[in-house]
Amino acid sequence: MTSNVVRAERESIAAAADLLAEGGLVAFPTETVYGLGGDATRERVVARIFAAKGRPRFNPLIVHLSPGWPAEEIAIMDERAKRLAAKFWPGALTLVLTRAPGCPIALLASAGLDTVALRMPAHPIAQALLKKVHLPIAAPSANPSGRLSPTEAAHVVELLGDKVDLILDGGKCPGGLESTVIDLSVREARILRPGLVTAEEISEVLGEPVTIVNAAASAAPPPRDGDDALAPNNNVSEIISDEEIKSPGMLASHYAPKKPLRLNADAAQPGEAFLAFGPNPPRSILASLNLSPAGDLVEAAANLFAYLHRLDASQAHTIAVMPIPEDGIGAAINDRLRRAAAPRP
Ligand code: TXA
Ligand code: MG
Repeated sequence: MTSNVVRAERESIAAAADLLAEGGLVAFPTETVYGLGGDATRERVVARIFAAKGRPRFNPLIVHLSPGWPAEEIAIMDERAKRLAAKFWPGALTLVLTRAPGCPIALLASAGLDTVALRMPAHPIAQALLKKVHLPIAAPSANPSGRLSPTEAAHVVELLGDKVDLILDGGKCPGGLESTVIDLSVREARILRPGLVTAEEISEVLGEPVTIVNAAASAAPPPRDGDDALAPNNNVSEIISDEEIKSPGMLASHYAPKKPLRLNADAAQPGEAFLAFGPNPPRSILASLNLSPAGDLVEAAANLFAYLHRLDASQAHTIAVMPIPEDGIGAAINDRLRRAAAPRP
């Protein structure tokens, strides 16, 4: 590991907070994945985040708040937002909301939209850092745009290395998949990115069904002009039909390992690594990892990116992946797998 990685403890968290306050970039663990954080109120700092990730400027960032931070000073918290925040914050839910008048967040973090994405993470290290720095922190996943998200500090070192000023090592992220992103800036709430908080759990709190805008389900090839913004493909325009697409969101091709993925595989073919799920899977000669021998989707989500990182480093030419059930957070796992397998721009 390079020298900009430190174990997260009291002093290093205080040093990280000082760096953030000075306009530096700090990678830190959350309960979902590692984030690449910077002061969300300064355009120049937000611009540095975009540059470090090689992220297209039209794709907005999530702003992280410490528990108790008055979100209504940043965005318009309607009844739905208040209910979801009360139920799922701190946690793995990101709310896309209309920017409040006088919103202090850099316009670049909203990528030119009149909305801002807010999340209050539950991870104790993320919370300690946010509390100490006392600023809203913009933090996309700490990976180059379009690549696998990091769930361990070593992944951040490998993916971003010296593009960050400091990497706080807090071990493995317990969730392993990015937060659920829900758009509340529109009349009918819609999930832009499935995640650890499921559509069913959200519908229950809102008392109405929510649609998943699932660009990854479409067979249409991804557009060539960006990395992880919502593809205005057939599937999406069907779902939101007459409404203009207000938000980027996610491109079809994303979360990609270097090797191609083959989904819904019964067994590995010669030369393939194998990502299994459930009891007694077929073996692969080259490399094989089981997301959850017990068939537990929560465990599978926690292992997904770490195992893809490992199989990506194997001798295999392709990673074959067993089918994963679509229920509960299986929807989010399959969303990431489909994006990882989609044709690359
Ligand atoms: O779990 C997570 O959400 C992690 C941790 C670090 O918090 N962060 C993360 O950020 O995954 P990022 O930037 O990799 O993904 C943010 C997603 C993107 O798909 C982006 O398009 C969407 O949220 N997003 C952000 N702001 C938005 C906005 N104003 N409108 C619509 N989509 C937005
Ligand atoms: Mg990301």
